[in-house]
Amino acid sequence: MEEATIHEFDFALINEYFSGLERQGPGSPEATIRALSFIPNLSDESKIADLGCGTGGQTMVLAKNTPGTITALDLFPGSIDKLNINAEKFGLQNRVKGIVGSMDHLPFQNDEFDLIWSEGAIANIGFEKGLNYWKRFLKKGGFLSVTYESWFTDERPAEIEKFWVDAVPEIGTIGHNISIMQKTGYVPVAAFTLPENCWLDTYFIPQKVRQEEFLKKYAGNKTAESFIAYLRHEAELYSKYKQYYGYVFYIGKRI
Ligand SMILES: C[S@@+](CC[C@H](N)C(=O)[O-])C[C@H]1O[C@@H](n2cnc3c(N)ncnc32)[C@H](O)[C@@H]1O
Repeated sequence: MEEATIHEFDFALINEYFSGLERQGPGSPEATIRALSFIPNLSDESKIADLGCGTGGQTMVLAKNTPGTITALDLFPGSIDKLNINAEKFGLQNRVKGIVGSMDHLPFQNDEFDLIWSEGAIANIGFEKGLNYWKRFLKKGGFLSVTYESWFTDERPAEIEKFWVDAVPEIGTIGHNISIMQKTGYVPVAAFTLPENCWLDTYFIPQKVRQEEFLKKYAGNKTAESFIAYLRHEAELYSKYKQYYGYVFYIGKRI
């Protein structure tokens, strides 16, 4: 039987599931802070955008570790509500604002931002298209910092190749992605792979309880059941093939 791809599940169902988690993709506070260490000269006046922010796991880390203001944008209103509630909870509401919007139609001015951040989300617009389109919203000399699914090797087993090409058709090697960054008008400043704990501790392990809750709520619902089966398959593939792929932080400076 053909396995489902992530594109076959309903957007609302995916978001209901993921908005019950603190993070919606692999990452960690340590990785976010490490990426931030490559960004110089942020001040109280700095303006930062966090695109595809989800419920704001990384947005809060950014806010606690940078001066300036953050506009966090996501397509899913339920995630933005959570993000704004969390910003209040941490007393960050004057510096962090969540808004609903699409990363391929941004409600911003040209040259508005000192820094554009995006963790686990640029594949929704495409790596090259995202880098090209987002550049105009950065000031000259501003920075972009994104995580993106990447191959670690030139070749890999067919099973994992198929899974990721279905999910992210443009997926490429780290060298290829750095060359796209250069081609689209950024000076590549740093790239580093997310360590395994970014997949396990903040992504796969918290999902175990969430999956049980979800299956209980949607007992008998075939779409929900096959969505959870897809996610479990994703976790199994990671443990089998993690030497071949992962998320990579790409940091570049707009020319
Ligand atoms: C894998 S999650 C990552 C969320 C968060 N940055 C994190 O790392 O926990 C991808 C996010 O992109 C959002 N998204 C998908 N398509 C989008 C679009 N066109 N514009 C804005 N956000 C989008 C989803 O709603 C989801 O919150």
